[in-house]
Amino acid sequence: MAEPELSASFYGTAAGLYDLVATAPGVMSWRRRTVETLGVSAGDTVVEMGCGTGANMPFLREQVGSDGRVVGVDLVPAMLQEAQNRIERAGWKNVHVVEGDATQPPVDTADALVSTFVVGMLDDPAGATREWLDCVSPGGRVTLLNAGRSPRAVTAPLNLGLRLFVRVAAPGRRLSLTSPTRELERRWAEARDALFEAGIDQHEERLGLGLVPLMSVRVPE
Ligand SMILES: C[S@@+](CC[C@H](N)C(=O)[O-])C[C@H]1O[C@@H](n2cnc3c(N)ncnc32)[C@H](O)[C@@H]1O
Repeated sequence: MAEPELSASFYGTAAGLYDLVATAPGVMSWRRRTVETLGVSAGDTVVEMGCGTGANMPFLREQVGSDGRVVGVDLVPAMLQEAQNRIERAGWKNVHVVEGDATQPPVDTADALVSTFVVGMLDDPAGATREWLDCVSPGGRVTLLNAGRSPRAVTAPLNLGLRLFVRVAAPGRRLSLTSPTRELERRWAEARDALFEAGIDQHEERLGLGLVPLMSVRVPE
């Protein structure tokens, strides 16, 4: 099955459960940090690719304020419905969701772009990353976040836990013979090459005891 169909069948039935995990307090602290690295100002437009249930939206909305705009793109209607519920509960008038394939962006102008826990799922992460860079105005930032094994020796048990989690939680990986974490890291590395080839002011850090790498660049003027 190709990646979009895998996502649709997996997240289509697990959106509510996913949201519980996605909004756990530790995870929300990674989201806050991710949004900080975008360097967004009040009034800006930020696009989120693969926005899922909209767990980043509170932080994005806080940064753009009431005069800016947040647009979340996702393939899976059940995930977008959770995001839309979040938007309505909060009463945000300037936060919107769009159903579409993030690898062929249905939006083309943004002051910043973010994508969390998505590039590891894409068949062509480098191609998608290049498309995303093209969506952002010169001077704007693109930040990506994902999961991967921690390079810290003391976190070896966590790496095993991550491997089990990815095997259970990532669409299409349960029966895969390839190590799911190695595959995630290969895709992350491809996205990183594309991001760092085109972007300046490159920034990298690891959150979550090293298990959650973040990378961010600025689109050249
Ligand atoms: C692991 S979830 C992450 C959701 C959200 N970004 C977060 O941080 O909680 C992956 C999301 O990416 C979406 N997705 C995967 N491939 C996609 C694609 N090609 N276009 C749009 N969304 C996609 C899935 O539907 C799912 O909502």
